[in-house]
Amino acid sequence: MPRFDNHRVLITGAGAGIGQLMAEKFAARGAEVIVTARRIAAAREVADHITNAGGNAHAYTLDVSKIASIAKFRDQLHEERGPISILVNNAGVVHGGEFEQVDLQQHLDTFKVNAEGLMACSHVFMADLLAADRAHLVNIASASAFIGLPYGSTYAASKWAVVGFSESLRLELAERGERHVKVTTVCPSYIATGMFKGVKTPLFSPMLTPDRVADSILRGVAKGEAFVIEPPMARSVELLKGVLPRRLWDQVARRTGVSTSMYSWKGKQG
Ligand SMILES: NC(=O)c1ccc[n+]([C@@H]2O[C@H](COP(=O)([O-])OP(=O)(O)OC[C@H]3O[C@@H](n4cnc5c(N)ncnc54)[C@H](OP(=O)(O)O)[C@@H]3O)[C@@H](O)[C@H]2O)c1
Repeated sequence: MPRFDNHRVLITGAGAGIGQLMAEKFAARGAEVIVTARRIAAAREVADHITNAGGNAHAYTLDVSKIASIAKFRDQLHEERGPISILVNNAGVVHGGEFEQVDLQQHLDTFKVNAEGLMACSHVFMADLLAADRAHLVNIASASAFIGLPYGSTYAASKWAVVGFSESLRLELAERGERHVKVTTVCPSYIATGMFKGVKTPLFSPMLTPDRVADSILRGVAKGEAFVIEPPMARSVELLKGVLPRRLWDQVARRTGVSTSMYSWKGKQG
């Protein structure tokens, strides 16, 4: 596994799930980790766990949906720790169900956290990344960014937005000659963190372990890969969609259970 010595890594939504695991893994490989979460208690628990294991971690509150608070948080971080060199935009929410039965505010919150919050954090911290010798922006999207996701339409839409944003920014930075700032877009299918509790996983796409996904992300970051896609089988979706007539692709999505996977979604509250 690669080392991340001399990097200060900020992770959003790191109080649980793959955010927490990435925090632990970055710290175990030499990075100083800024663990952020909506609730300070959750961030502290993760940071304490890392510190007790001999790592270097600090806990902060950051709610990425409170857009104006992000720049203030950066000022505080600069005063107390200094600039970051790796930003992992991991915070995310999902509200599944029949479109009109899900509260409109929940749909809008999904976009606010998954897309707007991610873009705002990238905007606020871009100056840090550009000023670093070697830097990395890691945006957690989803395999649902390649497909339509019935019963999860605004979640999929927010992740399509992340892929469009992330890919555009990667190309823009390269065009501008800022090749020391890499951008990695992460597109996993279902992971056993509880966020998608209740879903029926599609054929050829078993529930992933958080450990496998977190390891893949760290490897992808170390190699400067543009995309991390898990499981590898999910890579064929773009190809199939490109070559199959739409009606045939719809049938493939139905028969493999992609289109019905969210029907039984319960999520963390279920
Ligand atoms: N699980 C999957 O199957 C799957 C698949 C593909 C992609 N992803 C993506 O992977 C990322 C991590 O998800 P996960 O599976 O690890 O689920 P998770 O355990 O629910 O993690 C999501 C994290 O985001 C945090 N969060 C939510 N709203 C926030 C906000 N406004 N500000 C800051 N943090 C906020 C949550 O904090 P609270 O505990 O306070 O709610 C939680 O720590 C998400 O972007 C998700 O969309 C997940």
